Amino acid sequence: ELSFVHVFRPATVAGLPPVLLLHGTGGDETDLIGLGAAVAPGAALLSPRGQVLENGMPRFFRRLAEGVFDEDDVRRRAGDLARFVGEARASYGIGAPVALGFSNGANIAAAVRLLHPGALSGAILLRGMVPLDGPVGGSVPTPALLVSGDRDPIVPATNASQLAKVLGEAGGQVEHRILPTGHGLTKVDVELAADWYERLA
Ligand code: MLT
Repeated sequence: ELSFVHVFRPATVAGLPPVLLLHGTGGDETDLIGLGAAVAPGAALLSPRGQVLENGMPRFFRRLAEGVFDEDDVRRRAGDLARFVGEARASYGIGAPVALGFSNGANIAAAVRLLHPGALSGAILLRGMVPLDGPVGGSVPTPALLVSGDRDPIVPATNASQLAKVLGEAGGQVEHRILPTGHGLTKVDVELAADWYERLA
C-alpha cells in the first residue's frame, strides 16, 4: 500500500519521463489524467489525491485563507509527497517524474521543487504562487515552466514573478510565460506545457 490514494497509468512509449499530476483544490486523482495524456502522450502518469480536506475538498496543504498558507504544513506535506514519489518509483519501477500541477497542485509542486529538488526531474506549474518564504533545500538544476494568467484573481502578477525568481535562484532553467487570461486553464496552457515537456524529454 502506497501512502497516497492515487492513479498510476503505465507508459505506453518507452523512454519518456513519467509525469506526477497534482490537482487543484477540490480535485482528485482522476482530474488531470486527460491533461497528463495531452501534455505527455505515452508517458507514465502518477496522480495522487491531496491529503488535506478543506470543507470536504482535497488539497495538498493547509491554508489559513485564500493565498495565505500554513508554512509548517507546506513543509510537512511536501516531505510526505516527496516520500510518496520515492515509494511509487520503487513500486512501479519509474524514474524521477516531471511534476505537472495546477493551482494548489502547482504550489505543492513548487514546494517539493524547492525543498526536495532531487524528487523531480522537472516541474510544470500552471497558475502557481510562492508556497513558502523560509529557507529552501539545496540547489539542483531541475528545470521549471511557470504559466501564469495576467488577470488571475487568485495569483497576483507580482507573486507569480516572485515564484519564477525564487525557482531560478534555487538553480535550473526557469521559463515564465504569462497569458492574457485568469485562473482557469486554456488550450494555450496545454500547448505550452506539451512543447516544454517534449523539449525536456
Ligand atoms: C492555494 O491554496 O494553493 C491557492 O490559493 C490556489 C488554490 O488552491 O486556490
